[in-house]
Amino acid sequence: MKQIPFHKAYITDEEINLVVEAIKSGWLTMGPKTIEFEEKFRDYTFKEENKKGYAVSCNSCTAALHLALKAIGLKSGDEVIVPTNTFIATAEVVTYFGAKPVLCDIEEDTHNMDVSKIENLITKKTKVIIPVHFGGQPCDMDEILKIAKKYNLYVIEDAAHALPSKYKEKIIGTIGDITCFSFYATKTLSTGEGGMATTFNEEYAKMMKCNRLHGISRDAWDRYTIKGSWYYEVIDNGFKYNTTDINSALGLAQLKKVEWMRKKRDEIAKKYTSAFIGTKVTPPKIKSDRETSWHLYVIKVNNRDELYEKLKEEGIGTSVHFIPVHKHPYYKKTYRYKNEDYPVANYVYEKSLSLPIYPSLDDDDVDYIIDRVLKYAK
Ligand SMILES: Cc1ncc(COP(=O)(O)O)c(C=O)c1O
Repeated sequence: MKQIPFHKAYITDEEINLVVEAIKSGWLTMGPKTIEFEEKFRDYTFKEENKKGYAVSCNSCTAALHLALKAIGLKSGDEVIVPTNTFIATAEVVTYFGAKPVLCDIEEDTHNMDVSKIENLITKKTKVIIPVHFGGQPCDMDEILKIAKKYNLYVIEDAAHALPSKYKEKIIGTIGDITCFSFYATKTLSTGEGGMATTFNEEYAKMMKCNRLHGISRDAWDRYTIKGSWYYEVIDNGFKYNTTDINSALGLAQLKKVEWMRKKRDEIAKKYTSAFIGTKVTPPKIKSDRETSWHLYVIKVNNRDELYEKLKEEGIGTSVHFIPVHKHPYYKKTYRYKNEDYPVANYVYEKSLSLPIYPSLDDDDVDYIIDRVLKYAK
């Protein structure tokens, strides 16, 4: 019987050789490979912009979101609007400040935050909107930016899934005040663990760079090179969020193939969708003015739990994205979220199943998955 894991990172000799090089150099932590990865990621993200942009690497998207919220000055008692259909990290970072995550329901088709429901959630305490580009499909950014402007709010994008994605020809990473990416093992560019924040704002970039390493005025890389000096000053109350050259070596190799890997996932998605249209399986819908990274391919069926078990028996790994934030006991208890306030997210959660989608899946694998999904879906 076939064994198809839910996810497998695409690792070639190129990744392995660069990692070996990073290890052999003896530096190991944040150093030349990390600086190079940051620069190449910045150049990739801002290549079509005529303004200068910045990229700040760190050890996770969670860390990037935390650094971003600190950079815009989030304070205790503030409120931040996030979709309920997200990984807990998006809401969790808000709580680090003693601020409150205010949850927004989602659209049935895209599983993204429903922009028509945002204004009702805004109070005098609202400071930020964090749109999450679910599965890689960009949110309705024009509408979100318009609301943010009207109420003087910051927009920090959770783009953990959205590399590379486009909204109306614009690369994700070049729209909101700060955009945060994830390089976790399952993501479209993987360094094992890792993250990046991009912004046009030099002050934010400086603050995030400083706070990713204890609020020290200069990175370790500056201090320990021959040209450097032992002297440094702590100028802010920071964190230990820097990444390592071993992780960044993986990132450098992966970044080169990020477009090619998207193309491979796009081919798989097209195959799935053409097989599922007109069946009991509802395929994902992508709005015509945007391009998804296809980090996730999420179908909706009436027998999600049964289908999950059947596919498991057939050697196919699947997953569910996400258990909505308002259903997690800690969050429910602490913030008194009411289940009935999120009818669409509840419906989507009951029906959703994420299928394998990654570059090393071959045609046979995809045919096998389609066959078994159609056999068991109700
Ligand atoms: C939507 C979303 N935001 C944030 C994160 C956190 O990313 P990381 O694991 O890099 O901290 C994830 C991780 O899965 C995610 O799916």
